[in-house]
Amino acid sequence: MNFLNFFWFFVLFLQTNAWRTFHMGRMSGGNLGAPACVNCSVKSTLVKTNWFPQLLDHFNPRNNTTWMQRYYVNDEYYEAGGPIFIMIGGEGEASDKWMTEGSWIDYAKKFRALLFQVEHRYYGKSHPTGDLSIKNLIYLSSEQALADLANFISTISNEYKLTGKWIAFGGSYSGSLAAWLRMKYPHLVHGAMSASGPLLAEVDFFDYFRIVDESLETYSEDCLTTVKNANVQLNLLTKEQLGRKKLDEAFRLCDPLESLMNEQKHMSNFWDTLANNFAGVVQYNKDNRIDQTAAGKITIDDVCGIMVNQSLGTPVDRLAAVSNLLLDANNETCLDYNYDKMIEEMRNITWNDDGVSFSLFHKKTLKFLSFLSLFRHFCDVYLNHFH
Ligand SMILES: *[C@@H]1O[C@H](CO)[C@@H](O)[C@H](O)[C@H]1NC(C)=O
Ligand SMILES: *[C@@H]1O[C@H](CO)[C@@H](O)[C@H](O)[C@H]1NC(C)=O
Ligand SMILES: *[C@@H]1O[C@H](CO)[C@@H](O)[C@H](O)[C@H]1NC(C)=O
Ligand SMILES: *[C@@H]1O[C@H](CO)[C@@H](O)[C@H](O)[C@H]1NC(C)=O
Ligand SMILES: *[C@@H]1O[C@H](CO)[C@@H](O)[C@H](O)[C@H]1NC(C)=O
Ligand SMILES: *[C@@H]1O[C@H](CO)[C@@H](O)[C@H](O)[C@H]1NC(C)=O
Repeated sequence: MNFLNFFWFFVLFLQTNAWRTFHMGRMSGGNLGAPACVNCSVKSTLVKTNWFPQLLDHFNPRNNTTWMQRYYVNDEYYEAGGPIFIMIGGEGEASDKWMTEGSWIDYAKKFRALLFQVEHRYYGKSHPTGDLSIKNLIYLSSEQALADLANFISTISNEYKLTGKWIAFGGSYSGSLAAWLRMKYPHLVHGAMSASGPLLAEVDFFDYFRIVDESLETYSEDCLTTVKNANVQLNLLTKEQLGRKKLDEAFRLCDPLESLMNEQKHMSNFWDTLANNFAGVVQYNKDNRIDQTAAGKITIDDVCGIMVNQSLGTPVDRLAAVSNLLLDANNETCLDYNYDKMIEEMRNITWNDDGVSFSLFHKKTLKFLSFLSLFRHFCDVYLNHFH
């Protein structure tokens, strides 16, 4: 497996409640929220949406099949000869709001830059293939996405006789792409702004949960200690029938534990879901996006406020209260930890503009599921149920 492909797996596990909304470090619908936007409707007139005929397979010279890749342009601030800024789309639908908001707009005004944003293949409306069947996912890789950008830059430069320098921008996964683009195509890209771009693939990425723990501790030491105690209690309760009944109810489980407890895959999913409630909240704590969902508004203060509130019962009751808070915020009536159902939903091969990134990201990662077995950090706080 090569390095760039492996990148898709960079943050494993975690989620906010059920795997439907946050799983393995990814938010359904993509991770980059839209920025706060003043006078959006006026500003949107500055942004044009275009479609670029893109090669399906950059690495097969015997096949010239193309598809249409969506991109946005804003030339409001541009003066001939100025630099060209390209914002790289990540694992979610591209938002035209970025074309008039964010600090890169300040730089564009200052440097008289021309602005592009290119949507990542397989996300949003950029559909390279007829459907999402496994055979079609072979063209979903970071190498192909980087080659898309290189092709885009050289074609657009020629077409519009642009002489300015290209500067790439991106955050998180697309921040990695920005850095890799500069590294791999230095003749096309003069510089790159890589925000929070994870560049090295990590096996057994325990640092991730170390940060989650430390973040909970910023609220109070008691918060983390109570999470840990709750998991110890939870573990004991799963071991006897009355305890399992109590958990079915307290955690509003879709399937009673009695019916799934004998299969490790379901139980790992159960423990994974509960641990990732905290990871999801920490990862997106107060991130200031405007399209904030009810779940997205839940903060470390909220979940720790529950964990340390003794009037809400024992630690495991409070853990259930956190889980239920997230279930409610996501309009989920029960907590679904059935692994087979999860896989079934991910097998859906129909394009879906909003949610596509979610199932896709996972399809891409399913290839590497064997690596999951290596991610067994949680042990201390979340116990060791992840296989
Ligand atoms: C928003 O638009 C109004 C009316 O055009 C204008 O007065 C105001 O300054 C704008 N606000 C910003 C932050 O651009
Ligand atoms: C692919 O396109 C290139 C450039 O237009 C052309 O030279 C080549 O013959 C085409 N190859 C095939 C297999 O169609
Ligand atoms: C090119 O690849 C596409 C997608 O895999 C395939 O449908 C098509 O038949 C190929 N064309 C040629 C000329 O091999
Ligand atoms: C603790 O929970 C109880 C019951 O929901 C609530 O009335 C109380 O305000 C909470 N205490 C704090 C400090 O949040
Ligand atoms: C939950 O339902 C409410 C009310 O119907 C809706 O406004 C909200 O968008 C839903 N949230 C999610 C995450 O689906
Ligand atoms: C598959 O996904 C599409 C698009 O989101 C959706 O309309 C359809 O109901 C899904 N099919 C199944 C069987 O869940």
